[in-house]
Amino acid sequence: MNYDIKDVSLSKRGKLRIEWASDNMPVLALIRERFSKEKPLAGVKTACCLHVTTETAVLMLTLKAGGADIVLCASNPLSTQDDVAASLVRDYGIPVFAIKGEDNKLYYEHLKAALDIDPDITMDDGADLVSTIHKEKKHIPLGGTEETTTGVIRLRAMELQGKLLHPIIAVNDAQTKYLFDNRYGTGQSTIDGIIRATNKLIAGSNFVVCGYGWCGRGCAMRAKGLGANVIIIEVDPFKALEAVMDGFLVMPIAQAAKIGDIFVTVTGDINVIRGEHFKVMKDKAIVCNSGHFNVEIDIPALQKMSKKRRIIRDFVEEFVTSDGRRLYVLGDGRLINLAAAEGHPAQVMDMSFANQALSAEYMKKNYKKLEKKVYKVPEDIDRRIAELKLASMGIKIDRLTAEQKKYLASWEMGT
Ligand code: ADE
Repeated sequence: MNYDIKDVSLSKRGKLRIEWASDNMPVLALIRERFSKEKPLAGVKTACCLHVTTETAVLMLTLKAGGADIVLCASNPLSTQDDVAASLVRDYGIPVFAIKGEDNKLYYEHLKAALDIDPDITMDDGADLVSTIHKEKKHIPLGGTEETTTGVIRLRAMELQGKLLHPIIAVNDAQTKYLFDNRYGTGQSTIDGIIRATNKLIAGSNFVVCGYGWCGRGCAMRAKGLGANVIIIEVDPFKALEAVMDGFLVMPIAQAAKIGDIFVTVTGDINVIRGEHFKVMKDKAIVCNSGHFNVEIDIPALQKMSKKRRIIRDFVEEFVTSDGRRLYVLGDGRLINLAAAEGHPAQVMDMSFANQALSAEYMKKNYKKLEKKVYKVPEDIDRRIAELKLASMGIKIDRLTAEQKKYLASWEMGT
């Protein structure tokens, strides 16, 4: 079996941590049980480009139980948990190509190694796999799934330009994904990453969140819960208005740059924090990113205006500007929740990855009907996942009575 990981001897720790995650992923456990009986993915070659975490490992075991032949590579150079990669290889015989801290060249070599199996299905987080496939004009017989907002945006752009070569299911856009993973997952794990990297007190700090999408909402909500003064940066007037009425201060980044203690970017766009903003930041301001790509902070601009640069703690780089201020960039501007912490907790990844597993099964069954488009996860799959999650939590909800159903379907009855 071909693989490229840091150290296979790390497997013991990885196996235990995978077990811990698995115990917190009850929906995926039900799917795995059914998959092992029905084998809906028998012989389906599946190339997965995902963050190599304990939760991803549980998804890999689920796809394998369904009969898929899988290979896994990282979807970010800094998010791999090397002990998990080791356990997948040694304990479960799953080929992995991922090493935490790999450079860009090795990152793309690993992507290409995953594509060597000539996959029937791709599973992407950020669309790097699909964009590589499209550059190489590889044929994907069934289609692919996409985990994250940034990836879905890229794929929709490809569809609009008529460039998409196979169908995609946008897992990100399922309600059981973005309402929980993007909001509560990113909210908690981003704060976790900042605290693990810096050990700074959040209470009383001016905490600037750039972007008020679902991820930004989660970060803002959790920073507020820890006692920060939260400031929101937003370009969309609707979202900005929501942020105001959610009780946050809203202002342009140029103004926030002067008063922020901690800055987090979660916009999915490029150069949100730039040279002109670094110029006015306070001494000891901390800057990090929780958006998919490391493009939101203009680190080269900061480098240009700095006379010294050193790693002062794990995942904390100090830049001393020519006027003597110390500014700190966390995790190279890469996803701080996965670089310095462990990503989203298993309880939310349970739903995200249930969508992945059931979307792969749906694709296998329905690929002949699918066009070269970006599709939503079918509504019945999304709803079933919500129902199973509630059941796993021991929570029951009401059903509409026949009279209530009739009322909702009618227009004659007013009062
Ligand atoms: N993305 C964010 N958190 C994650 C996790 N724990 N596993 C896989 N992908 C993630």
